[in-house]
Amino acid sequence: MSKHLLIRGGTLVTADDERRADLLVIDGKIAAVSTADEGLDAPAGARVIDAGGAYVMPGGIDPHTHMELPFMGTVASEDFFTGTSAAAAGGTTMAIDFVIPSPKEPLLDAYTKWRGWAEKAACDYSFHVAVTWWDESVHADMGTLAAEHGVNSFKHFMAYKGAIMCDDEVLVNSFTRAGELGALCTVHAENGELVWALQQRVFEAGITGPEGHPRSRPPEVEGEAANRAIRIAEVLGVPVYLVHTSCIDALEAVTRARLEGQRVFAEVLAQHLVIDDSVYRDRDWDRAAHHVMSPPFRPKHHQDALWAGLASGMLQTTATDHCCFCTPQKRMGLDDFRKIPNGTNGIEDRMAVLWHHGVRSGKLTPSEFVAVTSTNAAKIFNVYPRKGSLAVGADADIVVWDPKRERTISAATHNQNIDFSIYEGMEVIGAPAYTLSRGRVVYEDGQLKTEKGTGRYVDRPCHAPYWAAQRLRNEGAKATAVERTLPTPEEG
Ligand code: URP
Ligand code: ZN
Ligand code: ZN
Ligand code: ZN
Repeated sequence: MSKHLLIRGGTLVTADDERRADLLVIDGKIAAVSTADEGLDAPAGARVIDAGGAYVMPGGIDPHTHMELPFMGTVASEDFFTGTSAAAAGGTTMAIDFVIPSPKEPLLDAYTKWRGWAEKAACDYSFHVAVTWWDESVHADMGTLAAEHGVNSFKHFMAYKGAIMCDDEVLVNSFTRAGELGALCTVHAENGELVWALQQRVFEAGITGPEGHPRSRPPEVEGEAANRAIRIAEVLGVPVYLVHTSCIDALEAVTRARLEGQRVFAEVLAQHLVIDDSVYRDRDWDRAAHHVMSPPFRPKHHQDALWAGLASGMLQTTATDHCCFCTPQKRMGLDDFRKIPNGTNGIEDRMAVLWHHGVRSGKLTPSEFVAVTSTNAAKIFNVYPRKGSLAVGADADIVVWDPKRERTISAATHNQNIDFSIYEGMEVIGAPAYTLSRGRVVYEDGQLKTEKGTGRYVDRPCHAPYWAAQRLRNEGAKATAVERTLPTPEEG
């Protein structure tokens, strides 16, 4: 494979601007970008990609995926090779997945296990590490992960009681520790106690099918947990990142905090922007069950709010929470919705869904699309400008985007290792013509060219630039003691 590659005649789109330019890739890195009127000559032996009529953008970064996750008595069907290949087919060139230790499992052991599973990845990846329990060894392991393994984000599940749920004590301990390390706390915000109680109540009322799932996880449950996590972060003086913000209630908590100047980041899933809760009333059990994920799909009016949140910058990133379970796995909950493994597909379609429904409808500009699909995640998780940019010296993770290509999304033709698509039948315009992972063409002309093990683990150092600002604010807000001359006992 040629180590030199020239992408000629495209419109380069970054989070900052759009301009006509040629782009040269050498040895996996962006080596040169032309001015608008002077193109670049192809070095001898270079492959030339004609990007006329296309947009040339940083490859997508999906900051929330779960490849081969052991969860709810089974294992997610998509592995790190099939999942990152499907990502490449959709223009995504980096995934940040999750190490999720079982309660009492040492964090470092779980991390080592996940690193082993991920060696087959075909595009670059990194890991958030979940804190699912607490003692001094967790405190120590967080430090080791941050200092020696490039982990700068720790995940907290406020739901999944009896399994991986964190109570407030764990949240406070872990947020405090992350503050010492300059790492970012992320949260799955749902009140796990309420979910647990509502699940029993709904089931005992005779609702055993997938329609019970959203009834047990209403928006208030997410709003309460979002607000609690944000308030805990505020008091402890740490930034916080909400994963899969799905409803107005959580968005309001984020908006309030941001308007008060708190450093809160929030992610929205592509599927929550375009799919509503009517899916749970599908008379076909399998179809309904395939939409069981947490937080659940919401009534339609939440979608308008989420789009507005994204367009206004209250929500900064888009993800998929790609967590695939095939039909026989979903059927583990045939007589009890509480046993349906939670999760949906989406890594292959996030970019197209956002382009079609976001850019083509005028909700997002192409530059805003780049920001919410790539650059903002790179900045928040501190891999910018190596990722999420088209700067000289950046990794050549690039998507050449054909804005005219029409496609109907279907499980029959997708590359994801799941027998269902939540976007089945959706017609989208806009798709990758080429995807490059560190300069390798991994997708072209509708064909995957990925190879097992070519993806690399990406170290993410602590102390992202926003930490300096956070520390200054914490310094300014520090408690001070009042100096007093105490009265002597005689004076009293
Ligand atoms: O339903 C979901 N989202 N499954 C994956 C685990 C999680 O909560 O992110
Ligand atoms: Zn400490
Ligand atoms: Zn979650
Ligand atoms: Zn998740």
